[in-house]
Amino acid sequence: MQIRWIQLLEFRNYRTLSYRPSAKLNLLVGRNAQGKTNLLEGIAVLLVGRSFRTPRLAELPRWGSPSASIAGEISRGDSTRTLRRTLQQTESGGWQAVGDHCEWARAIPFSWQDLAILTGGPGARRNFLDGFAGRLYPSHLAALVQYRKILARRAVLLQKGQADRLAPWDEQLATVGTELLGRRRSATAALQTELARIYPLLAGGPQKVEIRYRASLEATDPGAFLAGLERRRQEELRRGQTLVGPHRDDLLIELDGVDARVYGSRGQQRLLALALRLAEVLPVAEATGTPPVLLLDDALSELDAPGRASVLAELRAAEQVFLTTADPAFPAADGARWEVRAGDLVAA
Ligand SMILES: Nc1ncnc2c1ncn2[C@@H]1O[C@H](COP(=O)(O)OP(=O)(O)O)[C@@H](O)[C@H]1O
Ligand SMILES: [Mg+2]
Repeated sequence: MQIRWIQLLEFRNYRTLSYRPSAKLNLLVGRNAQGKTNLLEGIAVLLVGRSFRTPRLAELPRWGSPSASIAGEISRGDSTRTLRRTLQQTESGGWQAVGDHCEWARAIPFSWQDLAILTGGPGARRNFLDGFAGRLYPSHLAALVQYRKILARRAVLLQKGQADRLAPWDEQLATVGTELLGRRRSATAALQTELARIYPLLAGGPQKVEIRYRASLEATDPGAFLAGLERRRQEELRRGQTLVGPHRDDLLIELDGVDARVYGSRGQQRLLALALRLAEVLPVAEATGTPPVLLLDDALSELDAPGRASVLAELRAAEQVFLTTADPAFPAADGARWEVRAGDLVAA
């Protein structure tokens, strides 16, 4: 897919912006705090209705502005769609996003905070996997929200020692939990195939990468899930929380047979973080019938020269990409180049 044009109105530090990006690689060059990440964020809001940076809509309208709007035209093959989204305040003082939604529009964001997939705790890896699974399976994120609500209910009952009232919640947890597990496993398998192809290209060597889902509870059907809960009942009552299930799982990422989180060099971990995002592209393209838009925030800054060159080579083969950089000497590559300056964009 591609964005033909986008307009931002009162969004972050943009008063008004009209931008016709290139269909392939777009380089957005600018010093710090000029609006590079804000522009990527605006693109994400246009495509999927939310930011990759914050769950709080209130942060997005320009300070002091009562609303923000984002409009644009996107295309998939020969078909085009015009989307408009407005962020506005509700009567109760909260913020809401209203407007069009396109079922095949997807954005894959990357920033160096993604290094946490390798260096952070299991929660960072679960978030990564759930974000990807959400791009593959539209119902995944809603199921995740539901799962968390059930966990909260169970925690209350477990803490009060009301074991006799757990049954309906156990049933629900087992149903939704099994669903989440199934989708996470398929997502992991799709990532594995692509990661094994992409990482060696980026690293410039034949390293073997493996990514595996580590479940705290092995269950492919709700019955097995329930049995797993049952086994931990006493301990759960003692500790007042649900001890097994998708919220306790992890991803194992191995490089040449050893855990990349523990033994990987910083450079390897950086390339892996980026490779994991790039590995999302093909499975998402297959799920939606069109390659997603890539939003890469400063993605090359932490790489060495060979790493940068191989990532750029990959990006040239990709569809529409937005790549920000603070480096004015950044090689123009074959991309179209813009300068971001104080909430404005000039062709450079
Ligand atoms: N809601 C907002 N309204 C106006 N300005 C904002 C808003 N949110 C952030 N900013 C400003 O936007 C500027 C640029 O942010 P950003 O896009 O993150 O910069 P960078 O070019 O370094 O990626 C910051 O100086 C910040 O103060
Ligand atoms: Mg930035």
